[in-house]
Amino acid sequence: MSADFPLTHPYFAYILAPPTPLRRAKFQHLRRYVQGGAVLDLGCGESGLYWALGYVSDIDRLHLADVNPQFVATIRQQIDLLDPLLLEAAFGATLAWLGTLAEGLPHTAAFAERLLDALAPPTVIDMLRPFADAAYDTIISLEAVECVADATAFLTALRHSYAALRPGGVLVGDLLRYAEPDAIVQELIAQGLEGQVNPDAAQLHTALQVAGFDAITMAQDHTSGAGNRATCLFYTARRPR
Ligand SMILES: C[S@@+](CC[C@H](N)C(=O)[O-])C[C@H]1O[C@@H](n2cnc3c(N)ncnc32)[C@H](O)[C@@H]1O
Repeated sequence: MSADFPLTHPYFAYILAPPTPLRRAKFQHLRRYVQGGAVLDLGCGESGLYWALGYVSDIDRLHLADVNPQFVATIRQQIDLLDPLLLEAAFGATLAWLGTLAEGLPHTAAFAERLLDALAPPTVIDMLRPFADAAYDTIISLEAVECVADATAFLTALRHSYAALRPGGVLVGDLLRYAEPDAIVQELIAQGLEGQVNPDAAQLHTALQVAGFDAITMAQDHTSGAGNRATCLFYTARRPR
């Protein structure tokens, strides 16, 4: 891990490596669907700032939240230390790649400035309890909403996100499916970093519809490759106007 960028859980060390094809696809998903307004990254872990590099130039306000107080404390530390040098040291390769994506993406100093400008104080939120009423234009769920105990809790979490979106607001997420609940997955489930619920595209689509969403999009990533956690589903779903 970088000596300088605060991270406490080894799970999140991936953000310090150059972006893999899967992570590039995730950044592109975020760039495509996170547009403007007030954004909540719910279940941000310790990687919320990293993913925000992909969309912060397009939004007004960013709230990072997680059920785990340790992760929220780490994010606060990251924000306290945030400056262009830290961003360059931690995410140089990612920022260089993002810079090749589109005209108009800010350089590193502007990323730091944009982040500091947009960030609301990070807080603890448990998506299994109601947490906001029509407050956000976008809720981001990067491998997060499925990190719950079962299908009932999954639906509850989706319903609470629905309620927290403004009419017309969009849930933008991705979900990494596992083939087998092997020892690694079981360990992740125990830590709240994976869920017993492991929906396929059809089950995810149905759950989103039952929670009230419409205009659902679903795409399977083809860069994930082989292995137990091989299938990545990208999705979006809208709270009807
Ligand atoms: C697999 S990690 C993903 C973290 C981050 N979004 C990323 O992509 O690196 C799942 C995250 O969801 C959070 N989480 C699990 N259950 C939650 C809940 N009930 N409410 C809010 N966050 C939750 C975990 O603490 C963890 O940070």
